[in-house]
Amino acid sequence: MSNKVTKAIFPVAGLGTRFLPATKSVPKEIMTLVDRPLVQYAIDEARAAGIKEFIFVTSRGKSALEDYFDHAPHLEQDLKSKGKDKLLEILKSTNMDSGEIAYIRQHKALGLGHAVWCARRLIGNEPFAVMLPDDVIAADKPCLQQMVEAYEETGGNMVAAMEVPADKASAYGILDVREDMGSIVSVKGMVEKPKAGEAPSNLAVIGRYILSPKIFDNLNAMKSGAGGEIQLTDAIAEEIDGEGVYGYRFNGQRYDCGSKAGFLQATVAFGLEREDLRDDLEAYLREVVSAREAAE
Ligand code: UTP
Repeated sequence: MSNKVTKAIFPVAGLGTRFLPATKSVPKEIMTLVDRPLVQYAIDEARAAGIKEFIFVTSRGKSALEDYFDHAPHLEQDLKSKGKDKLLEILKSTNMDSGEIAYIRQHKALGLGHAVWCARRLIGNEPFAVMLPDDVIAADKPCLQQMVEAYEETGGNMVAAMEVPADKASAYGILDVREDMGSIVSVKGMVEKPKAGEAPSNLAVIGRYILSPKIFDNLNAMKSGAGGEIQLTDAIAEEIDGEGVYGYRFNGQRYDCGSKAGFLQATVAFGLEREDLRDDLEAYLREVVSAREAAE
C-alpha cells in the first residue's frame, strides 16, 4: 500500500440547518468568507498538501456547488474582452481540471461516517484525507500539509487536534492521550461530546483527518449493524489497538464556520487580512466598539 495521500473526501451532504433560512437554497459550503466560498478555502488547502483527486459527497439541493467548479467560458470571454486581467486570473485559479473532481450522492443524511463510506469505491487501497469545509483554518503552512508531513512519520490514522477550554469540551470529540510527543500525540481513546468535567484531555478533534482504507472495513461492519447515524469517530476509534490513531496539534487558527458566531468571526479575521479592506474595516470596528462602550 502506498503511503502517499493524493485523494481527499469532502463530505458536504449535511443539511446545514444552523444557517436556515439561507441554506434553503444556498449550500452552506458556497457561502462566502469575504469573496470566496468556504469550499474554495478547503480546495486550496488540499492542493497545497499534494491532493490530486477531490471527491465531494453531496446531496439533493447542492447543484450550486457543482456549478461553482465548472469553467465559465462566457464570463472568462467577457472579462478578457474588457481587459479585466486580474479578475480573469482570479476566476481561472478556481477552475478544476476535467477528471480531478468527482461527486457522489449520499442519499440520506446518515451521519459523517456514512458520508465518508459513500466514497469508498473511489479511494481503493491507499490512505486518504477527509476535510470538512466548515472548519476554515488560517495558517502559514496549510493545516493539511502539516498533517501530511507528520503522517509520513506515524502512518496509521491521524486527526487534527486543537486545545479547547474545559467548559467548551462537551461540544467536541475529545482525545484520551496515551503519549504526548509535542505536535503529535498517540491516542488511547476518543470520547464524543463528554459531559462537563469528564473530558479526558483538552484536545478536541476538528475537521481534518488522514485515514487508512481500513476505516472503510470498519464503516462497512457498522453499516450492517447500526440503524441510526454512522459516526466517523467510532470507525477511527476501532483502530486505536489496530493500525494506531494519532492526534496532530496543528499550528493555525481554526474558525467554526458551521456556526453563525464562527462564521462572523472568520469574516472579520479574513477581512482584516486583506490589504484592500483592512483599513476601512478596522476603522469601522473601532467606531462600533467605541459607540457601544459610550452607550453602556
Ligand atoms: P454538521 O454536524 O455540521 O451538520 O456536519 P450539517 O448538516 O452540515 O449542519 P447543521 O448542524 O444542520 O447546521 C459536519 C460535516 O459533515 C457533513 C456535513 O455536510 C458537514 O460538512 N455531513 C454530515 C454529511 O456529509 N452527511 C451527513 O449525513 C452528516
